[in-house]
Amino acid sequence: MSSLKYKPFFVSFLIIALFFDYTSSTTTFYVRNKCPFAVWAAAVPGGGRELRSGESWVLDVEPTRGQIWARTGCVFNKTGQGKCETGDCKGLLECQDFGTSPFTAARYAIDRFNNLDFFDVSLVDGYNVGMSFFPVTGYCRHSARCKANIIQDCPKELQAPGGCRDACSSLKEDKYCCTPAYCGPTVYSEFFKEKCPKSYSYAKDDVTGMFSCSTGTKYAVIFCP
Ligand SMILES: *[C@@H]1O[C@H](CO)[C@@H](O)[C@H](O)[C@H]1NC(C)=O
Repeated sequence: MSSLKYKPFFVSFLIIALFFDYTSSTTTFYVRNKCPFAVWAAAVPGGGRELRSGESWVLDVEPTRGQIWARTGCVFNKTGQGKCETGDCKGLLECQDFGTSPFTAARYAIDRFNNLDFFDVSLVDGYNVGMSFFPVTGYCRHSARCKANIIQDCPKELQAPGGCRDACSSLKEDKYCCTPAYCGPTVYSEFFKEKCPKSYSYAKDDVTGMFSCSTGTKYAVIFCP
């Protein structure tokens, strides 16, 4: 009899515990398109959708690693298949894989250790639109960004329709890629870094390119800040 008596209390306790566990275990990203043109926002995990100028997308993701980016010059049919000029993810409106160079990426890793999230604005896959990525709750004040118009100054050999590609995928030479033999800055990564000091410019740019805030923080990702 006594176990029955306490059952309602136990059930409501369980519901409250699940609720709090649920709310604290997802991370929210407020994605906003401030570009004067439409972009097709992409997120893995999360999928993708068109964002006209001024529109926002609120994304809740499980604590994991992921990327958010903008695609430009896209055409999709009714079933969400088509292609994009930059950042295309195998022709799908709702991405399941990361995109094709060039694209500027907001990358994150939630709750990696010590209750910390790590995040950056990466130019490792090139650049298509300006971006900022920063916390909007809590006391953390770090901000990752690349606001410069890199397309305009892009070296000729990296130029691509709608963007500026990374040297590894564009020139396909080991010396521009991160290999076991060498994984350091190159003349091209230094070009990106000089334009955008608060970006992540090559595969080991952790010291000045990556930022951290405590887990539970919510973030904004702005295209064309
Ligand atoms: C959408 O495009 C895909 C790929 O080109 C094609 O296979 C599919 O039939 C198209 N669907 C519609 C409804 O047009």
